[in-house]
Amino acid sequence: MKAFESREFALQWRQHVQGNDGKGSAVRVKLLNPKLEGLIGGIRGKKVLDIGCGEGFSTMLLANKGAKNVIGADVNGYSIGFAAHDIEGTAFLVASMDKLPFSLSSFDLVLCYNVLMNSPDDEVRNGVSEWHRVLVPDGRVIAVIIHPLYSLFGNGAASGEEAGRARRYRLNEKILVDTMGGFGDFFDYRRPLCWYANAFTDGGFCIRTFDEVFVSGFEGIDEKHRKRMDLPIFAVFELSKLSQKSR
Ligand SMILES: C[S@@+](CC[C@H](N)C(=O)[O-])C[C@H]1O[C@@H](n2cnc3c(N)ncnc32)[C@H](O)[C@@H]1O
Repeated sequence: MKAFESREFALQWRQHVQGNDGKGSAVRVKLLNPKLEGLIGGIRGKKVLDIGCGEGFSTMLLANKGAKNVIGADVNGYSIGFAAHDIEGTAFLVASMDKLPFSLSSFDLVLCYNVLMNSPDDEVRNGVSEWHRVLVPDGRVIAVIIHPLYSLFGNGAASGEEAGRARRYRLNEKILVDTMGGFGDFFDYRRPLCWYANAFTDGGFCIRTFDEVFVSGFEGIDEKHRKRMDLPIFAVFELSKLSQKSR
């Protein structure tokens, strides 16, 4: 079983994402989510898919904006169980992004929030291809990744005063993450931003907007993040489906 499919991973992620107060980690809730809400825009009456939804924290962003049909999908059946239990009125199912159980043109918008940097190259490329298939002709994707300059993991991360920074900005470095919980092999794929940009454009999308999310300007900033004011934490791609794939 892959780490992503284990109960231990589902439990650890749920705890991480909910934060100490159960409302979500401050960086996500106060910094990233408002940006995403702006990008998601008006989706009332639209059909939307949150792929790699985990326990549904990202799915709630879509549900709260009044979409008609919101589906959260994830490979981890335990996470899907938590999501289905906690969030009413939203459908959740077990599925992998590279093999989606939906027909052509099923969705107006796909959200993929903090998933791709832990997925192997082929899974990402096949996933992008699947998004293209299940989206309507003018469909959009919002894909968020942890910025490749930011790293907390293993030997890919700097230490001491530089903690949180990636030691290298390198093409295709696969790092085994020490999860401490022992839920199996879990990898951090260190890929530069151009790798993602190429995967998206090769898969039939144009990049409509791109942004890097910094902690500066974030009111609730803590000591740990104050040391990383110059460091982008998230990279956010907004993609538009093109009718033809470039390759
Ligand atoms: C870091 S969590 C993010 C969860 C959620 N989007 C959020 O932001 O709270 C990554 C999630 O992606 C899921 N995942 C990993 N590979 C996947 C794949 N190929 N298809 C669908 N989900 C996947 C994992 O099981 C995990 O729940």
